[in-house]
Amino acid sequence: MTTTDGTDTTRPSPARMYDYFLGGGNNFDIDRQTAERVMAVSAETVAVARSNRRFLIEAVRYAAGRGIRQFLDIGSGLPTAQNVHEVARAVAPEARTLYADNDPSVLPHARALIAGDELTRYIEADARDPEGILTHPETVRLMDFSRPVALLMVAVLHFVRDADDPRGIVAGFMSELPSGSVLILSHVTVDGIDPALWERIQVTNPSMAVPLNFRTGEEIGGFFDGLDLVDPGMVDCRAWAPGGAIAHSADALRTWCGVAVKR
Ligand SMILES: C[S@@+](CC[C@H](N)C(=O)[O-])C[C@H]1O[C@@H](n2cnc3c(N)ncnc32)[C@H](O)[C@@H]1O
Repeated sequence: MTTTDGTDTTRPSPARMYDYFLGGGNNFDIDRQTAERVMAVSAETVAVARSNRRFLIEAVRYAAGRGIRQFLDIGSGLPTAQNVHEVARAVAPEARTLYADNDPSVLPHARALIAGDELTRYIEADARDPEGILTHPETVRLMDFSRPVALLMVAVLHFVRDADDPRGIVAGFMSELPSGSVLILSHVTVDGIDPALWERIQVTNPSMAVPLNFRTGEEIGGFFDGLDLVDPGMVDCRAWAPGGAIAHSADALRTWCGVAVKR
């Protein structure tokens, strides 16, 4: 079935499933059923989603605290509590935010949330097309690329296959941003994964609507190449805090994250 805004309610959407993991209400039966199946395989998913979101909020606050006033959020997901523009504007009311996601079901919610807000825009676009995003008329109207930008690629690159060159995508964005810009990135990892969980994931993951590409810490660290990671470096999302890592217990499933500055 398709809703009046064109959303297909018969296919699960990663954005709406993530909304369900975060406790949001912007999801359909198919999303909830698929999310519950994921949780049956990996009960850790909800904690991972929430710690990822906490990282995003802390990192945006940190970037705004460094003086950054422009935020480019790629794979933004559905609006939820403490959106990027809200967190940034709590620090700097003049902060500008451009959201981009390739899931059409995100668009109506996002547009409703930011209606009448001249400093915030949402575009439907694919992370695999940095040039298309950076030259989109809404981007050009909103952003000043002579001034530092915070590029958010939070929990999105694990939806991008190696064949689509995720490192090239990050480099494609960062090469167009000026010195002082920051990369805020998180990515699910195979490092330290519980072996029984990994076996279950390998059985179920290929049949997901958009399968996850689990990567090693070495591969994920490569996204920060040529940039200066700020303290505490690349860490588990549960641990990230500006200036020093938070102690946490060993987990069956982890997400690496970091914030890095372009020289
Ligand atoms: C797990 S959610 C993350 C949302 C948000 N970045 C966060 O971390 O809270 C992943 C989002 O990435 C989006 N996504 C996946 N592949 C994408 C692509 N190739 N281009 C743009 N968005 C993509 C999905 O639609 C979904 O909304």
